[in-house]
Amino acid sequence: MVQKRKAGDSEDSHCSKKAREDDIPVELRLKNAVTPFWNVPYEEQLKRKEADVHKFLVKLAKEIEKVNKSLIPKLQKNRKENNFQCCPLAPIKASPCIEAYRNKCEFTIGKHLYTKEKTVGFRLNSYKEGSMSVAEPDDCVNISSVMLKAVKSFQDYVRLSKLDVYNPENHSGYWRQLTVRTSNNSDVLLIAVMHPQTLTEAELEEEKQKLKEYYEVGPGSQCGVTSVYFQLFSKKTSNEEILPLTHLMGKKCLEETLLGMKFQISPEAFFQINVPATEILYSMVADFVGTSSSLSVLDICCGTGTISLCLAKSGAKVIGIEMCPEAVENAQLNARQNGLENVDFICGKAEDVIVAAINKCEESNIVAVVDPPRAGLHQKVLKVIRATSKIKKLIYIACNPNAAFSNFVDLCRKTSNNYKGCPFYPVQAAVVDMFPYTPHKELVLILERDETIKG
Ligand SMILES: C[S@@+](CC[C@H](N)C(=O)[O-])C[C@H]1O[C@@H](n2cnc3c(N)ncnc32)[C@H](O)[C@@H]1O
Repeated sequence: MVQKRKAGDSEDSHCSKKAREDDIPVELRLKNAVTPFWNVPYEEQLKRKEADVHKFLVKLAKEIEKVNKSLIPKLQKNRKENNFQCCPLAPIKASPCIEAYRNKCEFTIGKHLYTKEKTVGFRLNSYKEGSMSVAEPDDCVNISSVMLKAVKSFQDYVRLSKLDVYNPENHSGYWRQLTVRTSNNSDVLLIAVMHPQTLTEAELEEEKQKLKEYYEVGPGSQCGVTSVYFQLFSKKTSNEEILPLTHLMGKKCLEETLLGMKFQISPEAFFQINVPATEILYSMVADFVGTSSSLSVLDICCGTGTISLCLAKSGAKVIGIEMCPEAVENAQLNARQNGLENVDFICGKAEDVIVAAINKCEESNIVAVVDPPRAGLHQKVLKVIRATSKIKKLIYIACNPNAAFSNFVDLCRKTSNNYKGCPFYPVQAAVVDMFPYTPHKELVLILERDETIKG
């Protein structure tokens, strides 16, 4: 009985807490969700991020000691010298621009929380109103006026459309998502995503034509948009199959300038969202790799070839691996357009092509740079890296350090049948603030081998 009442109580208080959140003005709720550090001075944001990474490195030291006793003497020395961390941590690098830095955002198309008008913005997950509610992104400090203008133009278009917005609760409706990508070359690329429901091919064609005209010759042509793509979602499960993009108007790619090089970027291809901070990150990676023509570099998860090209520029022979075919096409073109020949790209999942890529490396001294998606590196890739003695150094870039934690531990754990090869150990850590006003940061961890350790 008592337990039941307690459960009820806590549910009630949870509900009332949620309901109270609904009473917070919508602009504030959005700021809290998108840029939770909006009211924290930038210096303080940096201190918090540095402190987070410090804690992370202390935890990592303890965990590595548990899984590899031979590393204890080295780690204990490191911990003593580095405030209990597994390795030194360089002072955090601030982002050169702290506002309007995002060059990509995925906006939800839904109904405004109060007015119920069709709205392009961020979902609010209101307790009272359900998950349909969306608020306009005007007060998000990390979004540029160029991006806001593009969002407004599409919102105007959707409001005029006879088709309703998609409802994730009952899977009805059409307009679902707008991706906006901008570049420092004044490109503004839109991807409008629609659920087709029961529209016929001819009706879909008509919708595409209307959207094309709106941006080519209609009111949308005044909004700085340089490319428009259209994409359909086909299923309503969480495992939605993403259908190809249809190019409707304008340039096919974005162009970014980064560290004096030009990069073509297809709409499907990944690119770091804060270019000035990325320049700091990649310069740092180049310093960690060093300049040597007797070095091969494997750039695993290379995207459009950004890191590969930065390293090839300083003389290394680079092989990039990337699963997105459009990004690999961009990377090949980017290498040619920037006059770099000492770089090659392999298209495929790293877990399928890593052995072939290693076999292509000409030098017996290989540095691996890995920059995987948030979830971290595939176990097969990690095991091959460990088992390949020619890979002497590993530079791991992690946008979600907690998700990469088990990768770091596995790279350092005692040698076994499962984890062959001499273990790595962390020698240096660095952080770049790629995401001001949010708790996120980009961690770079350098790991090396100690051939004297037998695992
Ligand atoms: C965080 S991004 C880094 C891209 C690049 N290093 C950069 O900074 O622009 C991760 C990249 O890994 C690619 N990717 C994801 N899973 C992969 C896999 N299993 N094999 C190869 N590439 C993968 C993604 O397509 C994406 O381009």
